[in-house]
Amino acid sequence: DAQISGDLSRVLFTKDQIAKRIAELAAEIDTDYEGKELLLVGVLNGAVMVMGDLSRALKSHCQMDWMAISSYGSGTQSSGVVRILKDLNTDISGMHVLVVEDIIDTGLTLSYLVGNLMSRNPASLKIMTAFRKPDAAKNAVDVAYVGFDIPNDFVVGYGLDYNGRYRNLTSVATLAPHVYS
Ligand code: PRP
Ligand code: MN
Ligand code: MG
Repeated sequence: DAQISGDLSRVLFTKDQIAKRIAELAAEIDTDYEGKELLLVGVLNGAVMVMGDLSRALKSHCQMDWMAISSYGSGTQSSGVVRILKDLNTDISGMHVLVVEDIIDTGLTLSYLVGNLMSRNPASLKIMTAFRKPDAAKNAVDVAYVGFDIPNDFVVGYGLDYNGRYRNLTSVATLAPHVYS
């Protein structure tokens, strides 16, 4: 992270804080799905880190699949336009599906995704997100597992990007003003 650190303004969550919280949620998920096999559906690209960490923190078997949908072209604002860039490889009908996200901001991405996945008749569908912003409340999507509720600042790291960069930062932080100029 050394080179990236110079671009940061404030660290909101360290690598250790994130790992501890993900482990807590994994324990909850293990309990809630006891006797059932989960399909984790990661939303590319942002969810790669949380998928890797959550899946390995689980004690139970799980399967993993991926969807790529994009609501942000670039920059820091949601465009509100949701596109499927890559669909699941798995037929989820009859499966217990847990959608894994890095962040819920406006909730537009997820409200679209939940409608789309529910039409495929899964046995159950729940959502896990590492981070959630206040605006998510405007789109009534029920989120079963939330890592951290965060303020409405633009943050990067742990999968979250700014113009494709900073996903590989192990902490979650705000960017210094010079990055935007
Ligand atoms: C980001 C983030 C979520 C979504 C949340 O993805 O990873 O998937 O936006 O925003 P919303 O709640 O306002 O819809 P993005 O579209 O930037 O694609 P990425 O995961 O490839 O970065
Ligand atoms: Mn995303
Ligand atoms: Mg993004």
